[in-house]
Amino acid sequence: MRRIYNPIILSLLLTLCVVMASIWYLASHNYNYQGVLAEGGTEQSDVHHIRRALTKLADPDLVSNVATKAHGYIDSMKNPCWETGSRLFGGKQHSCLPHFYVSGWHSGAVALAKQLASHPNVAMDISSKDSAWNATHGFWTQGTSSSDASMRQYLDAIRSHALPRLLKNPTTDVVMDGSLSTMHLTWANSGRLHRTFQRSLETCSTQCMEGDKGVEEGNVERNISRACMSKCLGQARTDHVQAWRLAGYELEDVQLPLLMKAVYGDWTPKFVFLLRHPIHRIYSAYYGTPALRERFGNDLPGFTKFVGDQYGAYRDCLHNHSDSMCIHTFQSLSVEQQDVFTHCEQLFRGMHAAHLRIWLKFFPREAFLLVNSMDLFLADSRNNTIKEILDFLALPVPEQSSPWWGDLDRVGPRVTYTEHVGWVIPEGARRVMSKMYEPHNVALSQLLGTVRWLEWNEDTLVCPPSC
Ligand SMILES: *[C@@H]1O[C@H](CO)[C@@H](O)[C@H](O)[C@H]1NC(C)=O
Ligand SMILES: *[C@@H]1O[C@H](CO)[C@@H](O)[C@H](O)[C@H]1NC(C)=O
Ligand SMILES: *[C@@H]1O[C@H](CO)[C@@H](O)[C@H](O)[C@H]1NC(C)=O
Ligand SMILES: *[C@@H]1O[C@H](CO)[C@@H](O)[C@H](O)[C@H]1NC(C)=O
Repeated sequence: MRRIYNPIILSLLLTLCVVMASIWYLASHNYNYQGVLAEGGTEQSDVHHIRRALTKLADPDLVSNVATKAHGYIDSMKNPCWETGSRLFGGKQHSCLPHFYVSGWHSGAVALAKQLASHPNVAMDISSKDSAWNATHGFWTQGTSSSDASMRQYLDAIRSHALPRLLKNPTTDVVMDGSLSTMHLTWANSGRLHRTFQRSLETCSTQCMEGDKGVEEGNVERNISRACMSKCLGQARTDHVQAWRLAGYELEDVQLPLLMKAVYGDWTPKFVFLLRHPIHRIYSAYYGTPALRERFGNDLPGFTKFVGDQYGAYRDCLHNHSDSMCIHTFQSLSVEQQDVFTHCEQLFRGMHAAHLRIWLKFFPREAFLLVNSMDLFLADSRNNTIKEILDFLALPVPEQSSPWWGDLDRVGPRVTYTEHVGWVIPEGARRVMSKMYEPHNVALSQLLGTVRWLEWNEDTLVCPPSC
């Protein structure tokens, strides 16, 4: 009988297998990728570095299906799309991310997103096409619950709704994500990056409950004591900060822009962010948010109570922590703050500079168009503002005679919630907020190098019938 199990041939074959497997592994896991970005050069913008940190500290699914050097973006398409898979195994398929984002809470962003979705070259608005997420809480700002959509589901939804159009009109058509919450960097909005915090908190509170058993005899279901919860929150924060610091990032930078940078790699999406006068914004948001007006009252005194309550909690936080830590990580700081109704989010959404400052660490200034909501609200400036937005997105501007313009108010009507109270912001609440927002408006002007936003600090700013 011929000897086929020759040890030399066998070991050669084995070596070949190992080499092939390693090449495949390195290629598919992107370990040869040197994604250092043109505008960056800092560690933050080193895509390779961020992707490794995310794989370790967040959900590997977030960056396991993205474009890599081996599977790069398709040059001939305007929208960021790439091919994944291999011709040999299972065949190739396209994946695409949104080309641009429209965001801003109670700032006209919903109306604008609907209007832009009606543009002939906008293939879809991903925030309105799937029940797994929606215009309020988009894919990117989920992450605190296990039922949240995965990156694979997000890419699948874009593929099934938009890919045929994108392939048919590769040089013109693009995908939009119109979720309102994208721009605001509060703790809950970066939930996908807080895995280490969550895990540590869960482990610690389980131990707390065990420990409490002896103390609270006879209790079948035991509540975690506040002291224990306080200890666990502190522990979770320490673990979280240390894990990310080890990976090279400070907590302030562990937010949504870092995640987006890791996912997009060397392709830069565009952001249309609506900035509204912070006092007008919160006044509108109050009456437009059922949970708030139900709790504090659907009238003017209710609004004053709401402002006092939230401002008090924010000021308490500032006694113990920096402004940045309060704005971005409020409910992770103490049990008291965890208990604060809606975690002061409505206050923070008007502190535009605090959010933009972090965005600008990860994406170049040219990636952002910052629109003053008033320019969209006022009839005189509306058409030109829309044109400016279309130019920024490199979308064709329809002829002035095109029915598209006439249809804008029908497809994306402006919604107001303040008709029953009118635009009479109560004086006490207005004074508190003017003082609170003033330094943030100054910071915005400094950050963007224009005095325009300083007009928000002028008490005399005339408020047209609908601000
Ligand atoms: C959108 O998502 C949020 C959070 O998951 C949820 O509370 C809200 O009801 C959803 N809205 C719609 C219209 O589905
Ligand atoms: C847990 O706390 C809640 C609210 O403080 C209380 O209503 C409930 O009775 C407590 N349960 C137990 C088992 O102590
Ligand atoms: C601020 O710190 C003090 C002392 O540690 C603590 O008693 C207080 O509850 C903290 N305030 C908040 C809002 O967490
Ligand atoms: C804006 O465009 C619409 C539609 O073309 C037109 O009816 C309207 O007069 C324009 N507004 C201004 C201020 O030019």
